[in-house]
Amino acid sequence: MSSNETLQAVRGMNDILPDEAGLWLWFEEVVRDWLHSYGYRNIRMPLVEPTALFKRAIGEVTDIVEKEMYSFDDALNGDHLTLRPEGTASCVRAVLQHNLLYNAPQRLYYSGQMFRHERPQKGRYRQFHQFGVEALGFAGPDIDAEQILMCARLWKKLGLRDVTLQLNTLGDADSRHRHRAKLITYFEQHAGLLDAEAQRRLHSNPLRILDSKNPAMQDLIVAAPKLMDELEDDALKHFDEVRAILKRHDVPYEINPRLVRGLDYYNRTVFEWVTTRLGAQGTICAGGRYDGLVEQIGGKAAPATGFAMGVERLLALLQDDGMALPKAEVDVYVVHQGELASQLASRAAEQLRDGDLRVVLHCGGGSFKSQMKKADSSGARVAVVIGEDEAQANEVSVKPMQGGEQVRVAVRELNAIVNNLIK
Ligand code: HAM
Repeated sequence: MSSNETLQAVRGMNDILPDEAGLWLWFEEVVRDWLHSYGYRNIRMPLVEPTALFKRAIGEVTDIVEKEMYSFDDALNGDHLTLRPEGTASCVRAVLQHNLLYNAPQRLYYSGQMFRHERPQKGRYRQFHQFGVEALGFAGPDIDAEQILMCARLWKKLGLRDVTLQLNTLGDADSRHRHRAKLITYFEQHAGLLDAEAQRRLHSNPLRILDSKNPAMQDLIVAAPKLMDELEDDALKHFDEVRAILKRHDVPYEINPRLVRGLDYYNRTVFEWVTTRLGAQGTICAGGRYDGLVEQIGGKAAPATGFAMGVERLLALLQDDGMALPKAEVDVYVVHQGELASQLASRAAEQLRDGDLRVVLHCGGGSFKSQMKKADSSGARVAVVIGEDEAQANEVSVKPMQGGEQVRVAVRELNAIVNNLIK
């Protein structure tokens, strides 16, 4: 690369430009209000964690850990570190490290960047954003169902169309072990039909073979032993109760026995909210119960359940629905010419901000005409115009940008006049 070539962002890592950021800010506010309305509290973890945390939590034989983590050795002390590919492991680590959990169940949420070295395509990025929601210390099906109901409420609030809920249960460890053994025996009997990926996973993670999209293996997968047939009574009862609550609240769902999720920490309830409108990357939100993870990370066993939504995918869906925000980020643009006028302009701008108005004070001089052009393109509803004449009299002119008469008023009346105009 020549030394003066323009540098580009890393592939799969996007800038969010100001025109788009308005939608992000609006979305983040809606989501935060919604989370607070269910009693969830914010937690913020570092972007970098020890690599061992993700290996232990997500599982050694998963796509994320095998091929998607941005891992590096700290050049100063040799520590093995990883940019977080997800938030659940960090959240549980933080809760244990600061002893937040025992005798005090926690409803927590976090948001921010996650990093996965996937092949970038529409809806799939190497840096993407999630809102993650975790309820720790709750064992019953009521919280599983509440988290699903929460999602349904958010989709309604956002006016999202065409989102469906896929639901499954993975049972508990014993039933999964029995199922795993049966799967291995079954796939060994049909080893000739397995592709290379499946061969490799046969003994390490046979469950993931069920996730394969290879058309040549679909008949084999459909006929494979079912986890449902191995489930313990407790897990079945738990699942039935989740379903009953959803039914009582009129939340429709589809049972998808092939929904296994790409992270190993789940047990019992798992779910994904999907849309067909985003092409191949249609899962906008996903999660489930993960009762074993706290212990796996080194804590005393505690039940937990959670989910995370992909912000880029949700916003793409909203934009597909024609969602656009009115461009009104500035209320007032102040134009001025002359030394005295410029002093009054900055005082007037501060006075307007004291009244919680959003104000751009013109900088850089120029004719009134060119300043008014800037006022126009700023999207401001009102221009305040100050010439030497006005300044001498400690007055300003107020001009509604959508038409209407320009009026000259005393500076102390300015806020009231502007407020009246933009109401
Ligand atoms: P996940 O299914 O790996 O689960 O990710 C959750 C959501 O993040 C996905 O449904 C998708 O919307 C979004 N997402 C994932 N990868 C990408 C990507 N490369 N580009 C854009 N969006 C993406 C988790 O991360 C779990 N921690 C969820 C959870 C929380 N389970 C329990 N608690």
